[in-house]
Amino acid sequence: MMIQIGTGCEHVLRRPISIAAVDEDSLTLVYRTVGEGTRWLSKRKSGDKLDVLGPLGSGFPLPPPNAEVLVVGGGIGSPPLYQLASELTGITENVDLALGFRSKSECFWIDEFSKLGNLAIATDDGSAGVQGSVIDLVNKFQSAGKSWDYVYACGPVGMLRALQEHFAGQAVHGYVSLEERMACGVGACYGCVCKTEDKAFAKRICADGPVFDWNEVIL
Ligand SMILES: Cc1cc2nc3c(=O)[nH]c(=O)nc-3n(C[C@H](O)[C@H](O)[C@H](O)COP(=O)(O)OP(=O)(O)OC[C@H]3O[C@@H](n4cnc5c(N)ncnc54)[C@H](O)[C@@H]3O)c2cc1C
Ligand code: FES
Repeated sequence: MMIQIGTGCEHVLRRPISIAAVDEDSLTLVYRTVGEGTRWLSKRKSGDKLDVLGPLGSGFPLPPPNAEVLVVGGGIGSPPLYQLASELTGITENVDLALGFRSKSECFWIDEFSKLGNLAIATDDGSAGVQGSVIDLVNKFQSAGKSWDYVYACGPVGMLRALQEHFAGQAVHGYVSLEERMACGVGACYGCVCKTEDKAFAKRICADGPVFDWNEVIL
């Protein structure tokens, strides 16, 4: 979603926030307060109206029935994976989730995620789950004999790159959701392009993504 901040005059550019969950009459966003826009958002009260554009862009392509699936989230990249994991429950029972956070205080929706699959948590400081990164969790799963047909990930680009490298040469379908600063959010300004395999900056994350096959983009 692209969310207007204030009247739109003080902050001309809308802020992109992923949809974390959706049902027939509600839509849930989870966000971290980092700057003026999200600070303004954090001060909205029940009953206030928001001016939003969306839903925009592509979602994760779903796997075939009973596929072995790994879902990997890094920090505030995890919210859109909640909706994905919820939808996966109707398709396969073989879902592993690896979520990485800076520390325990930044972990969120652990109980909710744990209902959707076999959940493992890592934190940088070891204050919750395993001390380390999501790659450590992936290694741990694999040491226990796990393998996957599909990997879905959202988080910092360094984490996505590490995952892509980890699975290089393995027969795994990988999809990554990219987050980039965005201006228009609808494909008009070319402010959010990413590099593709042919080295051209040809893909707009907002309109052609944000979800891409990890073989399609250079992370
Ligand atoms: C497709 C997409 C989905 C996103 N989903 C979520 C979400 O579900 N929850 C969430 O908390 N955040 C999400 N983000 C990041 C969110 O858009 C930014 O945190 C937000 O725009 C910051 O606005 P601000 O006015 O508060 O901060 P600003 O004053 O604009 O910036 C403050 C700080 O945040 C950094 N920042 C700003 N925009 C981004 C960005 N797009 N990506 C990374 N860092 C940024 C800046 O570099 C700066 O350090 C998403 C971004 C994209 C592109
Ligand atoms: S933000 Fe304008 S093209 Fe993507």
